[in-house]
Amino acid sequence: MSLQPSKYIWHHGQLVPWEQATVHVLSHSLHYGSSVFEGIRAYPTPNGTVFFRLEDHVRRLLESARIYRMQTPETAPELEDACHRVVDENQLDGAYIRPLIYHDYEALGVVPRQSSVRTTIAAFAWGAYLGEEGMEKGIDVGVSSWQRPAPNTFPTFAKAGGNYLSGILMGREAARHGYAEAIALDSNGYLSEGPGENLFVVRDGVIHTPALHHALLPGITRNTVITLARHLGYQVVEESMPREMLYVADELFFSGTAAEITPIRSIDGMQVGNGRRGSVAAALQRAFFGLFDGSTTDHWNWLEPVRSKQPLAVAVGG
Ligand SMILES: Cc1ncc(COP(=O)(O)O)c(C=O)c1O
Repeated sequence: MSLQPSKYIWHHGQLVPWEQATVHVLSHSLHYGSSVFEGIRAYPTPNGTVFFRLEDHVRRLLESARIYRMQTPETAPELEDACHRVVDENQLDGAYIRPLIYHDYEALGVVPRQSSVRTTIAAFAWGAYLGEEGMEKGIDVGVSSWQRPAPNTFPTFAKAGGNYLSGILMGREAARHGYAEAIALDSNGYLSEGPGENLFVVRDGVIHTPALHHALLPGITRNTVITLARHLGYQVVEESMPREMLYVADELFFSGTAAEITPIRSIDGMQVGNGRRGSVAAALQRAFFGLFDGSTTDHWNWLEPVRSKQPLAVAVGG
């Protein structure tokens, strides 16, 4: 999906025009994948635009930086403020927000001891990552021949640029085989996740998802789905699952900030359930998107209105 440029990017502490938010070709992160980033959504609601779980995303961003010992110049409240500013100043009513912390170019050794740490935050309009049709009808998915990294190779809790090389290989292979997306196994052969999504399996009314030690990113939407599902009365189990759970599932679906809740209608060319979005995925989509039209109460304080610098128009009565 191509990018829709907005006007400004928050770059190194200030808003600059979109095309001026650039990096040097010798930036450490460009050469070694040493960046950490987030993907956050803001949704339009009847009461204005809201961030979804902004604090949790900023927390994960700083944790990713901490894992790689990157000394970030900004604090969590400063990063949250910057996210507010970039959405507000771009006058976006729905947005995908992409904060990125990276190493600049003072030196080119592998260990970025002398490379300063920089932050940049873009915000732009973005639709359904795996397609509007996929959200309703489900997508075709294949198990990848590429595995996720072993736990003692590099950390999957960090949302780091370099991790996505694995996702690129998985995604390209999936496309070559005619699939919309891939699922990877971990290095022990258990189900892990997609290139940018967590995985859920429904069987006999119980919702299963790979536990956190299966080489996956602890997704914020994953946590949202678990919370909403339990609130709706479903049993949710985080566990180890063999590949064949995919073939005996009643339903499969992905979760992610970009993918939101996307049903899977076939796996390795085999129909899942009735080959359409299942009732559990549909119920969870309703609960999730209901947060933004008011039909689901936000018991968890996940929504945070975008702060506007524009003065509110006050209607003066006669
Ligand atoms: C590898 C990977 N797994 C899972 C997810 C889903 O995480 P979240 O729901 O926090 O967006 C993402 C997206 O950020 C991802 O890149």
